[in-house]
Amino acid sequence: MVHIRSQREVDFIRESSRIVFNTLNMLEKEIKPGVKGEYLDQLAEELIHSEGGEPAFKGYMGYPSSLCISFNHEVVHGIPNSCEFREGDIVGIDCGVLKNGYYGDSARTYPIGDISKDLKRLLEVTEESLYIGIKKAKTGNRVSDIGYAVQDFVEGYGFSVVRDLVGHGIGRQLHEDPQVPNYGEPGNGVELHAGVCLAIEPMVNFGREEIFTKPNGWTICTKDGKPSAHFEHTIVVTSQGGKILSNGVYDG
Ligand code: MF3
Ligand code: CO
Repeated sequence: MVHIRSQREVDFIRESSRIVFNTLNMLEKEIKPGVKGEYLDQLAEELIHSEGGEPAFKGYMGYPSSLCISFNHEVVHGIPNSCEFREGDIVGIDCGVLKNGYYGDSARTYPIGDISKDLKRLLEVTEESLYIGIKKAKTGNRVSDIGYAVQDFVEGYGFSVVRDLVGHGIGRQLHEDPQVPNYGEPGNGVELHAGVCLAIEPMVNFGREEIFTKPNGWTICTKDGKPSAHFEHTIVVTSQGGKILSNGVYDG
């Protein structure tokens, strides 16, 4: 069942998403060679608590940390650890917050120091594909219109979209209906109504789309070992397209 949120509920989802936004901004300044993921996880947890929120991922299906930190060929769900960040790598940071009974969820992939042209391209295309998907989260469109637009854009650059993981409805639960794939044909799935809140999150692989899960049960990696990027926003569907709730902007 797909929930349509009242203005009051959207404001709660925006509040949790604002804390996620602040957390990602704070972490962005810390990203440099030598820093450790477990340190960033601690910083994130402190900030989230100081804003009256709870880290949404910690304890979710037994997940051990507040952030997901995924390097290079790791697609998503990397567990923060004591490995030092290395110049030239890319790192995906995913953060979720629960406050007032509502969730917010957002992710970005960052360069660590100087990165190759190819990696820059991967980050740019993945981020832009998120914004292209968000534009399609418009009243009267169907959920697959989002994925179709994302896939069409990404494949135009010769990259591939991950199919085994999807975006999701968000609100009282971290993951709600509908699923939001980053691929597909247009015009399928549920119709989007104003007030539907979604986490749109393209995962884009430099090479082939296939992935596997590491023996730790969490970390998802590309099968071909090539890099992958991930950007995510929490949005609300409007007649103008998706309005981003996880960018720190209040615009009604
Ligand atoms: N942003 C991811 C998602 O929406 C993070 C989930 S990590 C988990 O699925 F630990 F909470 F599972
Ligand atoms: Co998500």
